[in-house]
Amino acid sequence: MTPSDQVSRTKPARILIVDDDRGMCQLLTDLLREDGYEVEVAHDGASAIAKHQALPFDLTITDLMMPRMKGVELVARLREIDGGAVVLLITAFGTIESAVEAMRAGAFHYVTKPFHNDEILIQVKRALEQKTLRDELRRLRTEVHARTRFQNIVGQSQAMQRVFEIIAQVSDLPANVLIEGESGTGKELIARAIHFNSSRAAGPFVPVNCAAIPETLLESELFGYVRGAFTDARKDRRGLFQEASGGILFLDEISEIPLTLQAKLLRILEDKEVRPLGANQGEKVDARVVSASNRNLETLVRDGKFRQDLYYRLNVIRIELPTLRQRSEDIPLLVDHFVRKFAESAKHTVEGIQADALAALKSHDWPGNIRELEHTIERAVLLGKGAMIGLEDLPAQFAARGECELVVGQAVARQLTLRDLEREYIGRVLESSHGNKTEAARILGVDRTTLYRKLEEYKFKD
Ligand SMILES: Nc1ncnc2c1ncn2[C@@H]1O[C@H](COP(=O)(O)OP(=O)(O)OP(=O)(O)O)[C@@H](O)[C@H]1O
Ligand SMILES: [Mg+2]
Repeated sequence: MTPSDQVSRTKPARILIVDDDRGMCQLLTDLLREDGYEVEVAHDGASAIAKHQALPFDLTITDLMMPRMKGVELVARLREIDGGAVVLLITAFGTIESAVEAMRAGAFHYVTKPFHNDEILIQVKRALEQKTLRDELRRLRTEVHARTRFQNIVGQSQAMQRVFEIIAQVSDLPANVLIEGESGTGKELIARAIHFNSSRAAGPFVPVNCAAIPETLLESELFGYVRGAFTDARKDRRGLFQEASGGILFLDEISEIPLTLQAKLLRILEDKEVRPLGANQGEKVDARVVSASNRNLETLVRDGKFRQDLYYRLNVIRIELPTLRQRSEDIPLLVDHFVRKFAESAKHTVEGIQADALAALKSHDWPGNIRELEHTIERAVLLGKGAMIGLEDLPAQFAARGECELVVGQAVARQLTLRDLEREYIGRVLESSHGNKTEAARILGVDRTTLYRKLEEYKFKD
C-alpha cells in the first residue's frame, strides 16, 4: 500500500498548504489544525512537489498566483506523479479564468478570496471525501480485475459474488436454468454469461421475449410451421426452438406464456422433440433452456397461473438476482463502469463522480435497478459539463437529497442541537424570503400557524 492509500477515518488527514504569502499560510494552518487536521506548509511549487513525493498528502491546497511555478502547473505536475492527488485552489477575485484552467488540469474545486472560514472547511471536507472515494475505487478496480471471470458484469457485493459462483458452477451443466429478479437487475446479462461460459458458446443464443409476441403467434414462432398449416403459411418456417439447437434458447418473461402453450412446452422439454404446426412428425432438438422472470413463478404456481410440472422442469437450477437496493455497496463500481462506458461518446472529458453526488445515488431506492442507474449515468455523462459528475448533473430529486446530506453532515460535525439547527434554518429562510411569512412557511413545508408559533418560541423579532 502506498501512503496515499492510507486514508482512514481513525487517522487525521494530512494537508499541504502551498502559498508564497506567509500570512495566508499561517491563517489556513491555524484554521485547519483547529479542525483536527495535520498540516504542512510549502512556499513554492517545487518544494510542494518534493514534499508530496517524500510522503503523499491527502489534500493539497494551493494559491493560484505564485512566482515561478504557477498553481495551474503545480496541479498538472502533482497529478502526473500521483493520479490520486486531490488539489483545492485558492484564487483571488479576477483570476477565475486560470481557476477554470486549473480545474481542467484536474483540480478538485476553487475558493475565491476573500473567503469565509466555513467555506474552506466545507470544501476541505468535500475534497477529502473525494480522495477517499478515489482511493476506494482504485482498490476495488484492482480487486475486480483479479476476481471476476465475467467481464461485463460488475458486482463486489456478497450477493453478486454468490451469483458469479453459481454461474461458474452451472454454465456447463446440461440442466435448464431459471433466473428470477426484478426488472433491470441484469437477467439477460446473466443468461448471456451462462451461454458464453458453457460448451455451447460456439452455438446460438436465441432470445425470445414471451411478453412481446402476441399469444396467437407465439406458438408458430417457437415451434415453426409447415407450408399450408394456416392461410398465410406459404412456405415452411423453422421455429426458434430449432434455431437454438446446439445453443441456448432464452425464454424471457416466461410467466407470460399462456397455459395452453405451457403444456406444449413441457412436452417438448420432456421429449426433446418439436413438432412444427401442421407437421405430421416431430424433429429432434437439442436446445438448453434458460428462462427469466420478474414475477415470482412459485407464487404464480400457487395461484394456478403457471403449471407446476413445467415450473419444476425449468427450475432445475435457480438464480435469484438481488435488487440494486440490496447491494448498494456495488453502486460506486457500477457508476465507474458506466462512466467509462459512456465517456467515449461525450464531447468533453468525464473521469468520475463527486462524493456528494455518489452519496445521493447510494441513498436512492432504484425501482428500475441497474437499468435505471445506467440511464441516469448516461444522461449525466452526455449532458454534464465538468470532468466530475456533480449533483447538478443528476435529476432534480437527487440534488435536493444530496444537498440535504451535505448540510446535515456539517451540522453533525458541529454537534448542533436540533433546536439550534431549527432556529438557524427558520431565520435564514425568513431572510431569504425577505420577511414574507407565507413564502417562508411554504419553503419550510409548514402552515403559517406553525411558523408563527416557532417564531414566538425562538423569539424572533418582527
Ligand atoms: N451487474 C451488472 N454490471 C453491469 N451492467 C449491468 C449489470 N446488470 C445489469 N447491467 C446492465 O443493465 C441493463 C439491464 O440489464 P438486463 O437487460 O440484463 O436486465 P433484465 O433483468 O433483463 O431487465 P428486464 O426485466 O427489464 O428485462 C443492461 O444494459 C445491462 O447491461
Ligand atoms: Mg430482460
